[in-house]
Amino acid sequence: MLVSGTGSNLQALIDAAADPGYGVEVVAVGADRDGIQGLERAERHGIPTFVCRVGDHPDRSGWDAALAAQLTAYDPDLVVSAGFMKILGEAVLTAHTVVNTHPALLPAFPGAHAVADALAYGVRVTGCTAHLVDSGVDTGPILAQTAVPVEDGDTEESLHERIKSVERPLLVDVVGRLARHGHTLTDRKVTIP
Ligand code: GAR
Repeated sequence: MLVSGTGSNLQALIDAAADPGYGVEVVAVGADRDGIQGLERAERHGIPTFVCRVGDHPDRSGWDAALAAQLTAYDPDLVVSAGFMKILGEAVLTAHTVVNTHPALLPAFPGAHAVADALAYGVRVTGCTAHLVDSGVDTGPILAQTAVPVEDGDTEESLHERIKSVERPLLVDVVGRLARHGHTLTDRKVTIP
């Protein structure tokens, strides 16, 4: 699992994984920075952690190769990016199947400011998207989406909290189904048998 901040989606997966029937074990949590709540959550649960900083590598592709190697060391079936605020590169994406959760109904509002962008645009419905990661920015095949209303008077914070309240159960559901059943990909259509 890859995180950059609070890690509430990580916490939801850790909690779900306590049930053996869920079929998921969080084998490691990686971050691109120290001192974040996501890493503390993992440590509290005895899950191994690692930090891979862009600034510790000569260039972005060096960082990507180092991150790929750190992930591979844990031999995960799936990498889940939840609030990981870096674009993954070719080394990671060649070696791993990566699921990302995004706080908007893609293809609307990709990028790092999805909630603010949706609010500024004035949409009345937004939501979250779980998708497979490809080389683009939030362009990969869509696994699942949940919509939420935008309420009058919403701030970025209040809207993001409403999105996150549906995002956590969506991610838990999708990751569990992928882990238990696998998936096939035809063009952009993902099927989980
Ligand atoms: C989530 O809403 C996730 O979709 C978003 O960061 C939040 C992380 O929350 N990701 C992005 O904006 C990526 N572009 P969390 O740290 O509490 O799980």
